[in-house]
Amino acid sequence: MTEAVRIDLTAGVLTATLARPEKKNAITQAMYGVLAEATRRAKTDDAVRVLMFKAEGDSFSAGNDIADFIAQGSQGAGGALVEAPVFHFLQALAELDKPAVAAVRGRAVGIGLTLLLHCDMVVVAEDALLSAPFINLALAPEAASSLLLPQVLGHQRAFEIFALGEPIDGRTALAWGLANRAVPSAEVDAVADELAAKLAARAPNSLKKTKRLMRDAEAIWGLMQREGEAFGSQMSSPEAMEAFMAFSQKRAPDFSKG
Ligand code: COA
Repeated sequence: MTEAVRIDLTAGVLTATLARPEKKNAITQAMYGVLAEATRRAKTDDAVRVLMFKAEGDSFSAGNDIADFIAQGSQGAGGALVEAPVFHFLQALAELDKPAVAAVRGRAVGIGLTLLLHCDMVVVAEDALLSAPFINLALAPEAASSLLLPQVLGHQRAFEIFALGEPIDGRTALAWGLANRAVPSAEVDAVADELAAKLAARAPNSLKKTKRLMRDAEAIWGLMQREGEAFGSQMSSPEAMEAFMAFSQKRAPDFSKG
């Protein structure tokens, strides 16, 4: 198991902690594999009542590891993206029928934000910065966010988040309905733990039925796969390769050549 994700089960709460702070918890395919396994376990293991996502360091997650994108894009592997561990994780999230909670401090970029759309209760730091800048990498929305983000925020706010790629802070995320609580950064984990403990004590089958009724898992997974096709074909496109190179060379991308 990769050390970059820690898994712990305590009092019915299965916690997956992103533990790659030196890379702002950017998520590699190996890490997605561990997250997929934990999410599947959360569904099938009766000892698990709640799945919790946390992170070490000053950022929740900088999103997908860009070195992985470069490797996949240059191998032309974009089309086979649905076979990759990230998709095992997304499918497990779509199918999870137990409550998921997230504790978010600092940056939540890309899947760091779109993962929150699959969490039933989200606690953010007031000064957290959430963004889905797929546009900056010339990619496309993933994790069913093309449906779920506008559902939560309305079309215009969601479009702005996707099309400008600029972050919103934790207070705005609360005001816009993306989070349940916005608290000072030092309190995030404790508030999330408190909510998870409450959920873990509720009637489990009633909670499952409630969650299943509230979201159409099959439709969400179907959309994730369709999004994967757009994302995958963009990933090996010249504009995305330019964006990935620009990130590695710490310069702004040049999209002027269309
Ligand atoms: N993939 C791979 N490495 C990443 C990464 C990512 N998504 N995000 C950050 N890192 C690495 C940086 O390359 C840097 O590595 P280095 O120390 O070896 O140079 C390290 O993590 C620290 O990041 P840095 O950019 O110096 O931190 P920062 O505090 O100035 O900025 C972010 C933090 C998250 C705003 C910035 O790193 C960022 O924009 N990352 C890319 C986010 C992104 O586009 N993700 C994909 C979304 S689809």
